[in-house]
Amino acid sequence: MSLWQKHAILEKNSIILVIGILIVIAIGGLVEIVPLFYLKNTIEKVDGVRPYTPLELAGRNIYVREGCYLCHSQMIRPLRDEVERYGHYSLAAESMYDHPFQWGSERQGPDLARVGGKYSDDWHRDHLRDPRSVVPGSIMPPYAFLEQTDLDYSHIAEDMKVQAELGVPYTKEDIADALEDVRTQATNDSPNADALRKRYPQANVRDFDGDPSRITEADALIAYLQLLGTEVNFKLYDDKANIR
Ligand code: HEC
Repeated sequence: MSLWQKHAILEKNSIILVIGILIVIAIGGLVEIVPLFYLKNTIEKVDGVRPYTPLELAGRNIYVREGCYLCHSQMIRPLRDEVERYGHYSLAAESMYDHPFQWGSERQGPDLARVGGKYSDDWHRDHLRDPRSVVPGSIMPPYAFLEQTDLDYSHIAEDMKVQAELGVPYTKEDIADALEDVRTQATNDSPNADALRKRYPQANVRDFDGDPSRITEADALIAYLQLLGTEVNFKLYDDKANIR
C-alpha cells in the first residue's frame, strides 16, 4: 500500500481524521507554548522601566475601576501611522509590571501608552472634570467626582504585596513606606522628594490636581497618566541604533 493509499484511511474515516488533526495541532501548540515556561527572558529588560510608586499604583487602580481601558488602549503597534501619531511603538517591558495589563481592545479614544508629559496637570484635571471644556467635540464622559473624592489609600500596601506576589520587585521597605510615599509624591516641594526618586527614578513629585490641601483620586490618576510612556529614554536607544 502506498503512502497515498494509507492517507485514504484518514479521508474516509472522520473520527480518525479528527484525532489526527488534534495531534497535529497539539504538537504545534507545544512547540509554541512550552518554551515560554522555561525562558525567563521572554521579556527583554529595558533600562528605566520600574514598578509604579504607591500613588501611581492607586491611580492605576482608579483607571481600572472606571473602565478607562474600555475606550483607551495602551499599546502602540509597530505600524507607521501609529508610530507617527503616538510615538515609539510599545515594548513588552513597558507593561511588565502591569497586573492586569492595560493594552485594551478598542479605541474609542486615543492610545494612552505615551500620554505622560503630553499635557499639563491642569489640562488633565480640566479634561477629567469636563472633557468638552478642552476638546469641544469630545465624546469622553466627565469624571468630575475624582477631584472631589479623597483618595482612599489605606489598602495600598496590601495592593503592593499582591503585586509583589505576581512578580513586581517591591521590597519590604517599599511596602512599609507606602503610605508615607503617597503623601510625599502628592506634595509640592516635599523634602522627601529626592529619597522617593532614588527608589522610583523619574517619579513626578507634586500636587497634581491643583488642590494641595488634600490628596484626591484625581491626584493619583493624573500621577499615573503623567508617567505613562515616560520611563524609557528612547532617544538614547535611537541614537545608538542610528535611527532618526
Ligand atoms: C466612552 C469612551 C471613553 C472613556 C470611558 C474614557 N475616555 Fe478618555 N477619551 C475618549 C475620547 C473619545 C477621547 C478623545 C477626545 C478628548 O480628548 O476628549 C479621549 C481622550 C482622553 C485623553 C487625551 C488623550 C490625548 O492624547 O489627547 C486622556 C488623557 C483620557 N482620555 C483619559 C481617560 C481616562 C483616565 C479615562 C477613565 C477615567 C477615560 N479617558 C475614559 C473616550 C473615553
